[in-house]
Amino acid sequence: MAEALRVGIAGLGTVGASVARVLRDKAAELTRQCGREIVVTAVSARDRTRDRGVDLSGAKWFDDPIELAEKADIDVFVELIGGDEGAARSCVRAALDAGRHVVTANKALLAKHGVALAEVAEKKGVLLNYEAAVAGGIPVIKTMREAMAGNSVTRVFGILNGTCNYILTRMEAEGLTFEACLADAQRLGYAEADPTFDIEGNDTAHKLAILTSLAFGSKIAADDIYMEGISNITQADIRAAAELGYRIKLLGVAQRTESGIEQRVHPTMVPTASVIAQVHGVTNAVAIETDILGELLLSGPGAGGNATASAVVGDIADIAKSRPGFQHGPVFGRPAKELKPYKKAQMRSHAGGYFIRLTVHDRIGVFAAIAKRMADNDISLESIVQHANGTEGGIAQKTVILVTHETTEAAVRKAVDGVTKDGHLTDKPQVIRIERAG
Ligand SMILES: NC(=O)c1ccc[n+]([C@@H]2O[C@H](COP(=O)([O-])OP(=O)(O)OC[C@H]3O[C@@H](n4cnc5c(N)ncnc54)[C@H](OP(=O)(O)O)[C@@H]3O)[C@@H](O)[C@H]2O)c1
Repeated sequence: MAEALRVGIAGLGTVGASVARVLRDKAAELTRQCGREIVVTAVSARDRTRDRGVDLSGAKWFDDPIELAEKADIDVFVELIGGDEGAARSCVRAALDAGRHVVTANKALLAKHGVALAEVAEKKGVLLNYEAAVAGGIPVIKTMREAMAGNSVTRVFGILNGTCNYILTRMEAEGLTFEACLADAQRLGYAEADPTFDIEGNDTAHKLAILTSLAFGSKIAADDIYMEGISNITQADIRAAAELGYRIKLLGVAQRTESGIEQRVHPTMVPTASVIAQVHGVTNAVAIETDILGELLLSGPGAGGNATASAVVGDIADIAKSRPGFQHGPVFGRPAKELKPYKKAQMRSHAGGYFIRLTVHDRIGVFAAIAKRMADNDISLESIVQHANGTEGGIAQKTVILVTHETTEAAVRKAVDGVTKDGHLTDKPQVIRIERAG
């Protein structure tokens, strides 16, 4: 049998400890599958005294993950610290420089420095595997990197943040407010103490940036993503969506258009009957649309120690199975040096259907004024629903809900600005994009 693969793990938190546990519990099975043993020979974390729930006595402890990356007797360096700078970035770079394979779950690091790190890995002839960085346990990186040769991707979109999907699912199922669902997500450990990164879309954007690069062969451009979170979604939106045959999801979407590539993260109306609308709770899903394959949808657990460890262990096992001297495939599906600059499509030219919810004064002429603003901007309407809300603070109000046929973002913004200037609104207008989904 070939020599054991020696693994160093930096970071022994939720994911790191689970990886160590799976490697121990499944050692015999992994040895059979890989044709060699996988042994954790070195570990690093901040607190040496903390019980990690797994016996690590056989592994050498390093206080400094960079020292582990450079000096430990390892073949693979596994980074599970997190963060786009600091210790995580330094130790991954050090491991690659030292010619060691790297496995990471760190989407923030890859979204910011992925291309530069890929160039080092490819120059050194080592692997940089990151299956767990996007959609946790779902093998979407492998699928896009290895199983779709010859396909031209037209669009990739998905539910990439379990916390947001959990909140939206409960808001719809139980009629609860956003705030109540967020509090529960925090209590159950789905959301961080500071949930801003999840609910404002940053976490989805990091994962989307990686998928965009794989899909379109462009350099990662995480700062060029249009982003709206879910904190302003109300019960009124959820109910109106249901009435019109839609469900609201926070989607990350990357799409090829005539003017470039759109990257956007925002609450989205998807048809209730679509497959992605059936993805509930903390579950993630990624849809990939190509010229040859049509639409492929992968769905499964997007986070949590075990699911994420499954992806990390899969990446380690791939290295265990690789033959010495074998030329490894490029990190983002094509050589990092050949990734094209990202050509951004302006959000203003985004074409699609829109849901517009307006709370207006209940008086004569308001509806005609709204209709005129839409017509002036060449927006044709698929449906119009209006109902009286009664009187609030002595003002009679009604809700007008418009669903447009395909139009542009620029036209919708102009029309809604016009309606706002007309002085008929009693509350902020709500605009939610509609996404085609199979
Ligand atoms: N949790 C998930 O479900 C999930 C899913 C997908 C991807 N990820 C990614 O996986 C990575 C790890 O996430 P996690 O949830 O496991 O994080 P975590 O529970 O906070 O664990 C982080 C670990 O890193 C260690 N650490 C922090 N700074 C260090 C330093 N300077 N030197 C050495 N060790 C250091 C910590 O040590 P101490 O324990 O001693 O404090 C801890 O063991 C992140 O990139 C995250 O985005 C997580």
